[in-house]
Amino acid sequence: MLAATLTASATVITSPSGNLRLNVDVDTSGAPFYTLDYKGKQLVEKSLLGIKSDETDFTQGFAIAGTDTTTVDRSWQPVWGEYSDVRDHFRELAVKLKAANPDREMTVRFRLFDDGLGFRYEFPVQPKNNYQTVRDEVTEFNFADNHNLYCIPGDYDTDEYLWSKTTFTQLPQAMKSYRRHSEAQRADGTSIQTPMLIKTTGDKPVYVNIHEAALKGYPAMLLDVDTAAYDMKTRLVPDRLGVAAYLQLPFNTPWRTLIVSDDARDILASQLIYNLNDPCAIEDTSWIKPQKFVGVWWEMFVGNNRTWAYSNDWLAKPGVTDYSKLESNGHHPANTENVKKYIDFAAKHGIDGVLVEGWNEGWEDWASYRKNRQFLFDKPYPDFDVEELRDYAKEKGVKIIMHHETAANAADYALQLDRAFQYMKDNNYDAVKTGYVGAIIPRSEHHTSQWMVDHVLDVAKRAADYQIMVDSHEAPRPTGLCRTWPNWLAQESARGGEFESMGGNPPSHTCILPFTRLKGGPMDYTPGLFETRLETYGEGKKSQAGSTLVRQLALYLTMPSPLQMACDLPENYERFPDAFKFIEDVPVDWSYSKYLEAEPYEYITVARRDKHSDDWYVGAITDDKARNANIDFSFLPAGVKYEATIYEDAKDADWKTNPQAYKIRKISVTNKTKLKQRLAPGGGVAIRLVPRK
Ligand code: NOJ
Ligand code: CA
Repeated sequence: MLAATLTASATVITSPSGNLRLNVDVDTSGAPFYTLDYKGKQLVEKSLLGIKSDETDFTQGFAIAGTDTTTVDRSWQPVWGEYSDVRDHFRELAVKLKAANPDREMTVRFRLFDDGLGFRYEFPVQPKNNYQTVRDEVTEFNFADNHNLYCIPGDYDTDEYLWSKTTFTQLPQAMKSYRRHSEAQRADGTSIQTPMLIKTTGDKPVYVNIHEAALKGYPAMLLDVDTAAYDMKTRLVPDRLGVAAYLQLPFNTPWRTLIVSDDARDILASQLIYNLNDPCAIEDTSWIKPQKFVGVWWEMFVGNNRTWAYSNDWLAKPGVTDYSKLESNGHHPANTENVKKYIDFAAKHGIDGVLVEGWNEGWEDWASYRKNRQFLFDKPYPDFDVEELRDYAKEKGVKIIMHHETAANAADYALQLDRAFQYMKDNNYDAVKTGYVGAIIPRSEHHTSQWMVDHVLDVAKRAADYQIMVDSHEAPRPTGLCRTWPNWLAQESARGGEFESMGGNPPSHTCILPFTRLKGGPMDYTPGLFETRLETYGEGKKSQAGSTLVRQLALYLTMPSPLQMACDLPENYERFPDAFKFIEDVPVDWSYSKYLEAEPYEYITVARRDKHSDDWYVGAITDDKARNANIDFSFLPAGVKYEATIYEDAKDADWKTNPQAYKIRKISVTNKTKLKQRLAPGGGVAIRLVPRK
């Protein structure tokens, strides 16, 4: 069927090992398309390529004017990550397309790796119009069968959802359970967002992660699904005028990516999205510090009536803007004394940072978030003594992490940014958590439209100028830009640990995130919850985390990030000091990682080598079913004996009924050891391996 549409100019390349085969061509209407085979079988059927602007149609009328192929094999050394050395090995095919009436041209550049494909559109200066008002990208990802899909609904503003495991035909049914947030979530439930994962039907399933890399100057992508044809088409997030991107040519789009393997572990190990990003743009990276932190943050989530705001007076006394005239509400954790306690705790346990939320003026205004709300990023509340805390933290060798909640007033934040960053430097802060809760200002924008994509990257770049590290919340989902800007340590951009206090995250949630959301970059998931029985903030409703205590330890390994919170209250850690020892010990930066077992939505087992010692760590998690992890230690170097400290679920542990039952035991391990380790329902295991002298 396909052969009939092929022309003499058909262009085919294979990946370095030959397991992937890409075919690119134009059909009889001059529409460019591609197909992708995996291990001799067609995986992606004929799928169209191109974009449409008000000015120019870049989707048809094309002929292939020339091609270029090359093979690249190189490696690079990330500032931080799961590996100290990353191989970037691919065959490249650049297809130059030309059309007449009107004259126009674009190049589609493909990079075919052994673990997948990336391609992007490159628009050179055009003979006629170099200003393009883009409304539509037609890029397709078409499949031939009713495969399994792991996805969340298409949305212009949020990705904080639980994941569905469904199929093409069942998708509308699965999407029914979600609350509609934006018009992106089509009423018929056929719109989803990336990253998403496919597992093909059949006895030898193939896993495909679809996402994008190096999203800059362009909106995020969603996928509209034809559930009967098993086809997916790109939809670009528009602004509120319906325009997706305003481009001035020359311009290269972000890469569209497919990570492909019949071994689920390869999807987790893949560095394809980073490989498609530009090298590090920061010359001196010595100030970028992977780290662990604690914070007053969780106090606000555990249902004990703590507030970010300093005062309740504000709304009662409209017009009063002088905080010294307002009274503290008495339950404001970001106060000097309380923050000192966290600094003491961090210093005692070797934790690098203390995050303080609710330290600055503006939180009272939060309640009126429909208005033109404003936070001030250099105005501390009267009970938060910046200088005293600066000196105290310094003396204790701890860094305070600043919080910039913007309530989605990104326009105002951009204006305050230099002042805010200078204020941070003046007070010895070198990391900031940003937030964009609410509807974006300017009103014309969505959280993932072109303007916001640019805003958030601009914040990371300007932070780099001040040698500030960034952890962004409610930002467009990551696409590997942290390779180029490694001061951008982590993002939220998914449903995080905070939801454990708002209904809970089922154990399957953290078994799917590494296959999907994490492919674009690390997540500030906030693991380390020891008290899993909670009350919802402000509502007093009961909530329970979908996890045993031990599983929370394992998350430091299965959810790798250079920025890891120990989220729970110090008093909860003090109840379980022997388990907390693991959080003290576990590194946040690795020289090597090996995925031992994996199945999306069900389980992950991974081994990692510390970047700064010879210690290894192993973490495993399961969904709500008990499971035996089969840990084969052959990844260890031969001839070395290790003392393994195993943090395991007790026999009767269960995330629901007995989450805090754990045991710690020590065994001796070599590269010949094979361990069958039981994980409780919703449980896990965390192991530290230290070479014996
Ligand atoms: C939502 C963020 O995810 C959370 O971490 C933060 O505490 C609140 N917004 C307030 O900024
Ligand atoms: Ca959030």
